[in-house]
Amino acid sequence: MDHVRIGELSKHIDQTVTVKGWLYNKRESGKLKFPIVRDGSGYLQCVVSKKEVSEESWQAATDSTQESTLHVVGVVREEPRAPGGVELHVSDFKVAHLTQDYPITPKEHGTAYLMQHRHLWLRSKNQHAILRIRSEVEQACRDFFYNNDFTLIDSPILTPAACEGTSTLFETDYFGDKAYLSQSGQLYLEPAAAALGKVYCFGPTFRAEKSKTRRHLMEFWMIEPEVAFLEFDGLQNLAEEFVEYIVQRVVERRKEELKALERDITKLERIQRPFPRITYREAIDVLQKKGKDVKFGDDLGADDETALAEAFDKPVMVSRYPTSIKAFYMQPDPNDPEVALGMDMLAPEGYGEIIGGSQRIHDHDLLLQRIKEHDLPIEAFQWYLDVRKYGSFPHSGFGMGIERAVAWICGVTHLRECIPYPRMLYKIYP
Ligand code: 4AD
Ligand code: MG
Repeated sequence: MDHVRIGELSKHIDQTVTVKGWLYNKRESGKLKFPIVRDGSGYLQCVVSKKEVSEESWQAATDSTQESTLHVVGVVREEPRAPGGVELHVSDFKVAHLTQDYPITPKEHGTAYLMQHRHLWLRSKNQHAILRIRSEVEQACRDFFYNNDFTLIDSPILTPAACEGTSTLFETDYFGDKAYLSQSGQLYLEPAAAALGKVYCFGPTFRAEKSKTRRHLMEFWMIEPEVAFLEFDGLQNLAEEFVEYIVQRVVERRKEELKALERDITKLERIQRPFPRITYREAIDVLQKKGKDVKFGDDLGADDETALAEAFDKPVMVSRYPTSIKAFYMQPDPNDPEVALGMDMLAPEGYGEIIGGSQRIHDHDLLLQRIKEHDLPIEAFQWYLDVRKYGSFPHSGFGMGIERAVAWICGVTHLRECIPYPRMLYKIYP
């Protein structure tokens, strides 16, 4: 009998098929058993009737335990009340591998315990839904840039210099020299933008953040576009078009998973352009009126971000932060040189910053001066300065942390559930 994935069963109504998977749960009543099998593509309710199966099959269904590997043969029947709209009327039930003492039971476990068993926790319903949505988000990101004629540029992981400040670098030995794990692919995208015009990279990035918050991982995935001749307003348009696309794509294609997570879809359906835009100076005013102790020059903390985002049911773009608190490469605002042409996009519902981006300095001497002011090693940045030496051009880009976006879209409060194997402060198991 053909092996069919559970997600495909609705195309096999009234046919006999084999399903291979794991026992998720089991109900029984007298001479009937209702094992629920999962195989990654869905959940299937099976009906095992003592009258209709062999002694061996009945015994196997009786003995099967949570997460035992199963091979089940039966006829697919339509059943609107069952998950996936079908059930399997079983003719043969085999336990291919009997699981004993599965560590994660349907009872509540603490998060520390679950994180320690992350490799098994992935099988649970919510984790399964989050990973499917993550995969959809990643595919949507790639499709968005591909459809808009961007070229993918894979940036290196081992780098000789910092992109986002020297305090969060993971250092490693490179044949006697120092190398660092990449904090961002941006610096490598800028020269590629001169070669290809519109480029993006997508890969893991690393930050040795000595902070234990629900929004920080040591290793996270970032998608970063960089566009030649794109200036600051155009950058904000690109960011909002991109985010709208991704959210609507998940709403359209991952309804089941959003439902499993009990996510309020109406909140996601509202994520349509245009998004509100405010300046950092305006943001400081708003926060001061709310009684917060902040002034020009302060970086915005997580609570400030939440307080700002509260006023909107869409992501808000906060722009023109003081140059003093932003990265060395950001173009100063010609009308207000104390601030930079950079922006953060803050997600609604308290999810905080999902995107950081800016127009880049394209004047060679100004960039050199900034590198010096930031005490960065000039030799390591010679190649980066070359972009401003040979046919310089205004350009802009941004980076979106995939886990931040997934957490918001899924309505999950902690980033650790939004990546298969999170790397957190002092935690690298499994
Ligand atoms: O704002 P960041 O630091 O910007 C950059 O790295 C730029 N070089 C991007 C660019 O312009 N090409 O980081 C960008 C995004 C943040 O908005 C956030 O979503 C995510 O990366 N991020 C993190 N996600 C998880 N854990 C961390 N420790 C993160 N740090 C940043
Ligand atoms: Mg940032």
